[in-house]
Amino acid sequence: MEDFLKEVRKLAYGEIEKTKIPARMQVDFTTEIGKKLAKKLGANIDIVEAGTLLMDCMVGQAVNENRQKEHVQMGLEKTNELLEKSSLSEEEKENIRHCVLEHHGVEKFYSTESEICCNADCYKFISIEGFIITTRYTREMPFGDLIKLLKNKLEKKWNAISLDIVKKELTPQHQALLEVLKGLKG
Ligand SMILES: [Fe+2]
Repeated sequence: MEDFLKEVRKLAYGEIEKTKIPARMQVDFTTEIGKKLAKKLGANIDIVEAGTLLMDCMVGQAVNENRQKEHVQMGLEKTNELLEKSSLSEEEKENIRHCVLEHHGVEKFYSTESEICCNADCYKFISIEGFIITTRYTREMPFGDLIKLLKNKLEKKWNAISLDIVKKELTPQHQALLEVLKGLKG
């Protein structure tokens, strides 16, 4: 698993280097949240780390090619390339694939690891820390577009939260951010 994670980090950080999307701070933040949740819930920490690094690894290229919606499929293809070269078990491979595939939420998650990746992704926009990281490091975007994105994501990601402990932790932060965004025109 350690060798596989090395390859995953190489790919994810290589894409960030190339496209600057998402910001490295955002990815590191989401990964740390994911690992914390995995520890709390007794899930596999390595699988969650692989999932949080891979789930949006192709979003930069997808945005640049104006096909952002396809980033999940593109990420899955890259994930499969790495999995083919790895010596992970079929069970682990299937789990990692689902972490990527289901990271925007599904009715019923394949695994706790997959559910954690989706919930960790929500912290990027619904937590105060994630919100500040996102606003600080999304520099290339025109201000009006950023406000629109934040408003849109605040609603979408709030609806994607499925874990009770996450909902509980983020409810007051979500409320505060709703107030913040009310004060921002865009
Ligand atoms: Fe995504």
